[in-house]
Amino acid sequence: MSNKQFDVLVIGGGPGGYVAAIRAAQLGFSVACCESNPYADPKGEPRLGGTCLNVGCIPSKALLHTSHLFEEAAHSFAGQGIKIGKPSIDVPAMVARKDQVVTQLTSGIKGLFKKNKVTQLNGHGSFVGQGGTGWQVKVGEEVVEAKQVIVATGSKPRHLPNVKVDNKVVMDNEGALAQQSVPKTLAIIGAGVIGLEMGSVWRRLGSEVTVLEMAPDFLPMADQDVAKEALKLFTKQGMNFQMGVKIGDIKAGKKGVAIAYTDKDGKAQSLDAERLIVSVGRIPNTDGLGADKVGLQLDDRGRVAVDAHNRTNLPGVWAIGDVVAGPMLAHKAMEEGVAVAETMAGQAGHVDFSTIPSVIYTNPEIAWVGKTEQQLKADGVAYKVGKIPFLANGRALGMGEPSGFVKMLADAKTDRILGVHIIGANASELISEGVLSLEFSAASEDLARICHAHPTLSEAVHEAALACDKRALHF
Ligand code: FAD
Ligand code: NAI
Repeated sequence: MSNKQFDVLVIGGGPGGYVAAIRAAQLGFSVACCESNPYADPKGEPRLGGTCLNVGCIPSKALLHTSHLFEEAAHSFAGQGIKIGKPSIDVPAMVARKDQVVTQLTSGIKGLFKKNKVTQLNGHGSFVGQGGTGWQVKVGEEVVEAKQVIVATGSKPRHLPNVKVDNKVVMDNEGALAQQSVPKTLAIIGAGVIGLEMGSVWRRLGSEVTVLEMAPDFLPMADQDVAKEALKLFTKQGMNFQMGVKIGDIKAGKKGVAIAYTDKDGKAQSLDAERLIVSVGRIPNTDGLGADKVGLQLDDRGRVAVDAHNRTNLPGVWAIGDVVAGPMLAHKAMEEGVAVAETMAGQAGHVDFSTIPSVIYTNPEIAWVGKTEQQLKADGVAYKVGKIPFLANGRALGMGEPSGFVKMLADAKTDRILGVHIIGANASELISEGVLSLEFSAASEDLARICHAHPTLSEAVHEAALACDKRALHF
């Protein structure tokens, strides 16, 4: 029996892979996408959507939403005249709703595959060699041939040596999203994005949260004005941060888990907690990919090595998303997927890495695009700053969300916007205006001359643009 043949085989059905598959099919290629997710959908097939839809972006945002409502009900409703008494949380019901959202969305990708005539192949993809019409890849028990292959195998959590993750007491992102009760005490190793988002969820529901972070500075990749404000607000909310620590032995303890560590002053400390989340970054997924069989080059950090157009060292083999260099973000993976499909079709596929937004979905949310003030200083760029607090924004006050600010950085000579940094309600949505400004090389004056609806949070972005020219109207 001859092998199944396709123009394009995508290995991995996460946001990078499924988007690449859909775009390639739209452009006229015959496309298959293989997926080996051990979690099956209601039909018994591996769920599509990768980390993002199954155990990442979507479920975490569903839990962040529920826990935010819970906190609002507990602490903000009374101040607005809504009397409901003390709310209680049914954690299994919250998690079941989250699972339902995941099922709906992952099934939706199957629908999109059908609509676009992408063939889903169930099973782990592994390079076998070259022959027939192109690359041969074993998927499950069958060998598939494709003229072009896109590796989109994503990433998995990095675990600490000698710390067994059982996803019950010691958890990575999977366990953190599936707990069935609120732990009294929760320790988190790593004050990165997962630590802050998951820490927020469980703190809002009643856990006493302590975050142990190796780095001396909080959110070093963010503008430090934003980072300082965030640390102040999260601490006020009740999260406890220990920066500059060195983690020692982690063992089963009286409460659940005992973590020995050295604090920033070099003193030996220990922390007992009912549960622990380990969120110390993610590593690329190249297990069993057969990279060595075909000579697919990896870089020094185990990622698939690619050029600026996501080409690997092998002709007709591309790689995108978390398995290659760059920020591990779903929207970055999707952009690369589209760019590769379009490049394969002879179009000018392109990803502008300087305009990829970063968002942390805490309360308040944190979002930024472009350069931070510390980067501009390091690069010796002369800049001006426009900074507007949400306290001066009518909509924010009406919503009871006065925390945070918008900070805009523009070139002192040309007025071109170089960075936008927001901490505040709906920062995740507001940042799109910053992305658009950077994409279109807008000057702060351009934004300042654009009419923004009133009353909206976006007026704070408008005012920040005005403030770059020292002519803010409402602050
Ligand atoms: P993945 O989503 O990891 O998908 C890879 C897929 O390939 C998986 O389904 C895997 O099963 C499959 N696979 C692997 N190897 C093989 C093989 N050999 N054969 C067949 N299939 C294979 N990003 C954001 O932008 N916004 C967020 O809010 C956000 N929140 C997050 C929250 C959490 C808790 C986590 C963990 C991550 C979050 N991320 C977020 C990051 C985001 O999930 C990833 O950047 C994104 O999923 C990467 O997409 P990808 O397609 O490269 O890889
Ligand atoms: P991260 O890279 O964001 O943060 C990891 C943190 O752990 C860092 O601050 C690091 O200094 C610290 N750390 C590392 N080793 C340590 C150790 N031994 N002891 C103490 N601290 C240690 O990684 P995280 O939070 O695991 O998330 C992984 C990735 O998933 C993120 O980088 C991001 O790309 C993606 N993600 C994106 C989200 C979003 O866009 N909103 C949400 C969640 C995850």
